[in-house]
Amino acid sequence: MDKALQVSAIKEGTVIDHLPAERLFDVINILGLYNSTDMITFGTNLDSKRLGKKGIIKVANRHFEGKEIDKIALIAPHANLNIIKNYEVVEKRLVEIPEEIISIVKCFNPKCITNNENVETRFQVICKSPIELKCFFCEKITHEKEVVIT
Ligand code: CTP
Ligand code: ZN
Repeated sequence: MDKALQVSAIKEGTVIDHLPAERLFDVINILGLYNSTDMITFGTNLDSKRLGKKGIIKVANRHFEGKEIDKIALIAPHANLNIIKNYEVVEKRLVEIPEEIISIVKCFNPKCITNNENVETRFQVICKSPIELKCFFCEKITHEKEVVIT
C-alpha cells in the first residue's frame, strides 16, 4: 500500500509541500494559519525521498501570494506550492527568495532606525544560502540564524 496518502487529498486550495520537518510549526505561525476558518490538515516527520523527513500543510480554499510566499521561502527555501482545483494539481511552483525583502523581516541591529521608529524594513539579499540580508538603512547584515519574521 505504497500509494496511501499520509495526509488526505484536498478538493480545492493549496498544498505546501517539502517543508523541513522541524520548520512545520514556524510556517503555520508566520502564515497566521491558527486564525483560519478554512480546513487545514498537516503532517510532519513524514517520509520523503528528498528530505528524509518532511512536513506538509494543506489549506483548503486558500491561495498564497506575494509576501506570504516570500515568508515561506525564508523559512523553507525548498518548499513547493501545489495549487489544487477539483482534486487535481493544476499548478506547481517552487518558492524563491527574492532579491529584495521589504517589511517581513526584522533588522538584527537593535540601533537600526527600523527598530526605533515607524520605518518599514528593507534588505538587499546578499546571499540566499545561507541567507544574508543587508539592511538598506544601517547596512548591517542579518544572517540566517538571526532572521526573525514579522
Ligand atoms: N495533493 C493533495 N490533494 C490533491 C492532490 C494532491 O493533497 N487533490 C497533494 C499530494 O499529496 C502531494 C502534493 O499535493 O503531497 C503534490 O501532488 P502531486 O504532484 O500529485 O505529488 P508528487 O508527484 O508526489 O509531487 P512532488 O513531485 O512535488 O513530490
Ligand atoms: Zn538595519
